[in-house]
Amino acid sequence: MRRIAGSVAIVTGASRGLGVPIVRALARERVKLVLAARTASEVEALADQLTAEGCPAIAVVTDVADPAARAEVIRRAEQEYGRVDILVNNAGLEHVVSFHRMDPEEIRRMVDVNLTSAMLLTALALPGMLERKRGHIVNMSSLSAAAGLPFDAVYAATKAGLVAFSLSLRSEYRGSGVSSSVILPGFVSDAGMYHRMEARSGAKAPRTLGTTTPQAVARAVVSAIKHDKPHVIVNPRPLRLLLAGGQLWPRLGNWSLRGLGVRRMMAEVAASGEPAAEPEAAVSAGAALDT
Ligand SMILES: NC(=O)c1ccc[n+]([C@@H]2O[C@H](COP(=O)([O-])OP(=O)(O)OC[C@H]3O[C@@H](n4cnc5c(N)ncnc54)[C@H](OP(=O)(O)O)[C@@H]3O)[C@@H](O)[C@H]2O)c1
Repeated sequence: MRRIAGSVAIVTGASRGLGVPIVRALARERVKLVLAARTASEVEALADQLTAEGCPAIAVVTDVADPAARAEVIRRAEQEYGRVDILVNNAGLEHVVSFHRMDPEEIRRMVDVNLTSAMLLTALALPGMLERKRGHIVNMSSLSAAAGLPFDAVYAATKAGLVAFSLSLRSEYRGSGVSSSVILPGFVSDAGMYHRMEARSGAKAPRTLGTTTPQAVARAVVSAIKHDKPHVIVNPRPLRLLLAGGQLWPRLGNWSLRGLGVRRMMAEVAASGEPAAEPEAAVSAGAALDT
């Protein structure tokens, strides 16, 4: 999908954090947008702003874990623009905590929102893309997928699931005009879940790894679609060799997490009693949608 101007994109998790710069980066490419998240005030205000700036955008209040809401977001995109060309599965939850302290409902919800919903939304968008021989799925994973991050087992498992899902889709639909990319950001400063964790707990990402920016993640999403990239790591320091070493020698991977100070930082966040990375307002909006 080298030409994306005029395409239609659904972006989930478009109400705050990384979703907003991703939406804005796609708008600059003249992509028509469908903004999906639970917080009506945020997605509606952003859609109004974009429309006023000359970029067509609609807001669809959506809990991605709700089957009816997923069907509705596709229906509204098709009703408004006639098709879906790009799906950015960006919505996600994280809770840095010891695995044995998570209750089963929280585990189920995190898997639903981060992984199952992305697959089920893709299943709804894909047939139209295949029929038109044109489409791109972007899955927002995380470096946690590749690193064995402690105090983050369920989140890391969902993000690893997205890597496997994305790469499998890519090889399965090769030659069909439909492709898929997976984005693996490191710790992101200035906005989003890591930024809130840092502000609340005071724990900082180790200097050796550094932090990236929401804008760099947004650029990575656009570039992945335009250049059909399979797998994009967004981090200021080169990490591919380190991650590859961890795959070849898992003990080395564990050792480097400790050596780089990542284990210490995650332990500090977990010890701070960090609540799940969802602002109160969003949790209650989701609860209202569930009823
Ligand atoms: N920030 C980082 O450092 C970082 C690093 C690596 C990967 N990531 C990934 O990047 C993505 C965005 O993260 P972020 O930092 O922007 O997080 P965030 O600030 O917590 O935002 C999460 C977004 O997901 C939406 N969301 C959550 N649950 C939802 C649900 N059930 N249905 C629909 N939307 C839902 C939220 O909207 P509502 O609450 O309005 O529904 C919000 O727009 C996530 O997948 C995350 O795992 C982030």
